[in-house]
Amino acid sequence: MDDKTRVREVLGGFQPEAVLVLGSGLGAVASRVQDACVQPQAALPGVPVAAVSGHGGEILCGTLGGRRVLVLSGRLHLYEGHNLGVVTRALRHVLSTGPRLVILTNAAGAIQRDFRPGELMLIADHLNLSGGSPLEGAHDPADGPRFPDMSNVWSVAARRAFRSVADERGVTLREGVYAMLRGPQYETPAEVRMLRLLGADAVGMSTVPEAIVTAARGIPVLGISMLSNLAAGISRVPLRHEEVLAEGQKAAHVLGMLLETGLARAIDATGGRA
Ligand code: HPA
Repeated sequence: MDDKTRVREVLGGFQPEAVLVLGSGLGAVASRVQDACVQPQAALPGVPVAAVSGHGGEILCGTLGGRRVLVLSGRLHLYEGHNLGVVTRALRHVLSTGPRLVILTNAAGAIQRDFRPGELMLIADHLNLSGGSPLEGAHDPADGPRFPDMSNVWSVAARRAFRSVADERGVTLREGVYAMLRGPQYETPAEVRMLRLLGADAVGMSTVPEAIVTAARGIPVLGISMLSNLAAGISRVPLRHEEVLAEGQKAAHVLGMLLETGLARAIDATGGRA
C-alpha cells in the first residue's frame, strides 16, 4: 500500500479545515474536540512512537467550535535524536488532506522583559536556530518550491482573528518573535542575552520546522506560545520540565477557550491563503 492510501486509511478519509498541533502540557485542549476519533501518530508511515512525558502522540479527528479539525496531540523533537525530516513527518502526512489553516502551539521561555509566565504569545515571526531545514535533501515537489519564500509565514489575518477573540474575553495576548534551539538543555543566561540581541521574545525547542514545512506549501500558519517560564537568567530559579508542564495545564484552559472561539474566525479570515 502506498503512503497516501495508508494515510487516508488511518484518518478514515477525514478532511480537516484546520490542523492543530498541541505542544508540551497542552494536551488538555484536546478534550474540547467533539466526536473525536483517535489514532496513534505512529500509525502513519515512518512516524516513530513519542517518548517525552506530556506528549501524547495521538491524532484526533473531530470538531472544535463547529469546524472540522485534525489535532496532532504531542510532537517529536530534535532532542529525542530524530532528524528534521522525522519531526515533521506526521504533519507532512496530514497536510496532504488539504487544510486551510495550521495552528502550532508550544511551551516557551519568555525573553521579552514585559512578558509573564502563564501568558500566551502569538508568534509574529521566528528565528530558525535549529541548524538545519526540514526541506533539505532531494526536492519533493509536494513540499512546494525548492526555495520557498519565508516573508509571510505567520498569517496576519489569523492573528487578527485571535486577537479579536482575546479582546472580547479580556485575555492578555502578547505577540513576538519565537526562536527555536535544539535543546534538550535549557539556555544559559548568556544564550538568552544573545537571543534577546537577535530579536527573540520567546525561546523553545519546536514549532519552527513545522512552520517552514507548512508555509512552503502556501498554507497559512498561526502560532501560539504558552509562556511557561521566564528564560534562564531573567529569573534566578532553575528551570524544571515539571514546572513547564504544570504552567501548561493552567494556561491550557485559556488557550482551549481561545481556540474553540477563534478557530472558525481564523479559518474564515485567512481564506486558505498565507
Ligand atoms: N527554553 C527553551 N524551551 C522551553 C523553555 C525555555 O525556557 N520553556 C519551555 N520550553
